[in-house]
Amino acid sequence: MTVVAVLSMKGGVGKSTVALGLASSAWERGLRTLVIDLDPQANASMALEATDAPFTTSDILADARPGVAADAMVVSGWGESVMVIASERSLEHRHVGGGHQSGQRLRTALATLPRSFDLVVIDCPPSLGELTRNALTAADLALVVTEPNHFAVHGAAEALEAVDVIASTSNPRLRAAAIVINRMRPDDREHRLHADLLATEHGDLVFARPLPDCSGIPQSQRSGSPIHTWNSPGSREVAEILDDLLDSLLPVPRPQPTRPTLSLRRFFT
Ligand SMILES: Nc1ncnc2c1ncn2[C@@H]1O[C@H](COP(=O)(O)OP(=O)(O)OP(=O)(O)O)[C@@H](O)[C@H]1O
Ligand SMILES: [Mg+2]
Repeated sequence: MTVVAVLSMKGGVGKSTVALGLASSAWERGLRTLVIDLDPQANASMALEATDAPFTTSDILADARPGVAADAMVVSGWGESVMVIASERSLEHRHVGGGHQSGQRLRTALATLPRSFDLVVIDCPPSLGELTRNALTAADLALVVTEPNHFAVHGAAEALEAVDVIASTSNPRLRAAAIVINRMRPDDREHRLHADLLATEHGDLVFARPLPDCSGIPQSQRSGSPIHTWNSPGSREVAEILDDLLDSLLPVPRPQPTRPTLSLRRFFT
């Protein structure tokens, strides 16, 4: 099971879009996927048609007793292969801090999941506060999303620092997997400048294929559909990029054993 937290300090840069996009790519491959919405805005829950879940991430963070994650898991509007632990507005007022091992609550809840998943994607709120800290403590991989502009690039650096802090204190398994540039317009000089700056500062950590501006993204989210079902040239390109991104996150499949038929055939002919 690979647990990926999608984060950024800056709002509106495309965290939920990337989280939903990875879930869409996993959905197309038939992977068992769980999306955990840790943002009180509940945008991922809306896009996955999971806003009437009886229990939410707010309940999990209040009390991570065994079984609470199972109670909160619902089938998404995309079908059984994509499950959701939804969010709700009250998560905003949920103060996790203070209690014993409060940063570990989500991780504790995930450890007692009743079924295994190939991929767990955690959509974080636009802050590096206690909700995002819970996500990073539960995750194996951190994916930082940014737009190619000054403030967002600054926010990406702050997010990477937060990843380092959690990795060196409470979660040694955690590593920064990639910085994803979203809404890139290659003909825009400012965008090119900031994409170059990111590459200079963070090298190979910057995912090689930025996501372009694509009207299919908000349209598919509004209609509650995976981007992989959206039929326009722009969204097909976006889907391909997301497939590459998912490939870069999942463990490399072990090579299939080679079948001996070829050599036997050679022997008999
Ligand atoms: N590449 C893109 N092309 C077109 N629209 C996009 C793209 N990426 C994101 N959007 C749209 O921009 C808006 C903000 O994106 P999104 O909700 O993914 O950002 P976010 O970082 O999750 O925001 P928040 O910080 O509020 O959680 C959404 O309406 C989304 O559909
Ligand atoms: Mg969001």
